[in-house]
Amino acid sequence: MKDLVRLKTSLTQEVEAILNEQVKIEAYSSSKYLAMASWCGEKGFKNSEDFFMKQAEEERAHMLKIFRFIGDAGGKPYSPEVNNIPHEYGSLRDIFEAALEQEIGVSHAIHRIVNVCRKVNDYTTEHFMQWFIKEQLEEEFIARRQVELFDVIGEGGQGLYLIDQAITKVVYDGAMVATEGGAAE
Ligand code: FEO
Repeated sequence: MKDLVRLKTSLTQEVEAILNEQVKIEAYSSSKYLAMASWCGEKGFKNSEDFFMKQAEEERAHMLKIFRFIGDAGGKPYSPEVNNIPHEYGSLRDIFEAALEQEIGVSHAIHRIVNVCRKVNDYTTEHFMQWFIKEQLEEEFIARRQVELFDVIGEGGQGLYLIDQAITKVVYDGAMVATEGGAAE
């Protein structure tokens, strides 16, 4: 019976499992960014709040994209359970450093999926994951530049106000993304 079920999908069990893991990771990112938005809003950092609200939506869209792919490929996507979301941070800088760390972790997870795809010759999933590789390039770039603002502007005096103003002005306009069918969303 199990073999018959496997006939319905081109995904190996290993690829299906690691894709479901990624669904969880994206869901976790979405919830984590929502908690960061809450912290920023509470402290009066309106632009940072808006930024993390938007990020939370984007991460949810990533989760749904992978969820849909698993189903379309004949596998079984699992609705993820998310817990242990941190809500307390020491400073605005801590938040943006944690966001950068989160994005670096996601990039590594995406690369692990591609490695598994290569191991089992799953060209379809590898091709699907290319969009995420490009997306991570953009998200890591923005997260790094945002962390740099803390040194460039400085946190003293009106620094935090100015950093919050600058947060949503950081954009990625890398040639690699712009020339390949438009920027990743
Ligand atoms: Fe979907 Fe930014 O990772």
